[in-house]
Amino acid sequence: MRRKIVAANWKMNKTIPEALAFVDEIRPKLRQDEEAELVICPPFTALYSVGMAIKDTCLKLAAQDVFWEESGAYTGEVSPVMLTDLGCEYTIVGHSERRGYFKESDMDVNRKVRALLDHGIKPIVCVGETLEQREAGETDELVTRQVEMALDGVGMNDVSSVVIAYEPIWAIGTGKSASGEDANRVIGLIRKTLKAIYGDGIANSVRIQYGGSVKPDNIAEFSRQPEIDGALVGGASLKADSFLAIARG
Ligand code: 13P
Repeated sequence: MRRKIVAANWKMNKTIPEALAFVDEIRPKLRQDEEAELVICPPFTALYSVGMAIKDTCLKLAAQDVFWEESGAYTGEVSPVMLTDLGCEYTIVGHSERRGYFKESDMDVNRKVRALLDHGIKPIVCVGETLEQREAGETDELVTRQVEMALDGVGMNDVSSVVIAYEPIWAIGTGKSASGEDANRVIGLIRKTLKAIYGDGIANSVRIQYGGSVKPDNIAEFSRQPEIDGALVGGASLKADSFLAIARG
C-alpha cells in the first residue's frame, strides 16, 4: 500500500514570521497518526526557521528547487548539500513555473533529480501539459517523455524514493482543476511508463500526486481515484486549516 503524500508548495509566499505563524497554528491540530505524509515546502528564506519549528511534529521539510552541483561559483543557487544541512527530506523539481519562467529543460530536471538522490533527498518531480498541448492531443506523449527524461539514469534502488506530481499547467492557480477521472487516467499512464522501465513491483511503489487548483471542496474527487496518491497544493496550502482539510480529505 502506498502512503498518501500531501505537500504544501508555498511558492514565493510567506516571510519568516508568516511561515512560523502557520506552524504555530497547525501544530496543536496535528494528530499522531495522520494517514497522509505531510510535507511543507517553504521558500528558501524560511527553510531554516520552519525546519526548526517542525522538528517535534510529523511535518516533513522540502525545498522548492535545487541546483545539481555540490558547491562552487553558481551565484544565487542552492546545492543538495545545503538542503541536507537544512534537514530537507524532499525537494520539488521541474515545477512548471521553473520550466516556464526559468527555462528549465528536461535535462536540467534530470540532473537535479540525480543530484538529490545522490544526497539522499527525495525528489518530487513535476510534469504536466499546457492547455495548447492538451488541445492538440499531445498530453500523453509529453507527460511520458517528461517522466522518462526526468528519470534517465535513475536506478531500481532509487526510484522508490521519487514522488511524481502530475500538474496540468492549465489547472495551476486557475481554479479550474482536472476532473478526478482525467487526472487518474494520466497518472495511470505515468505508472505504465514506470512499469515499462522498472517493472510492476517497483512502479507500484512509486507515489504519484495530482496538483492544480486542489481545494478542500474538490479533494474528495481525487482521493477516491485508485492511481492518485495525494496532492501537491499551491494556493490552498497557505492556510493551516485548508491544508489540513486537504490532507485529510
Ligand atoms: P494551485 O494549487 O495554486 O493551483 O498550485 C498548484 C501547484 O502549482 C502546486 O505545485
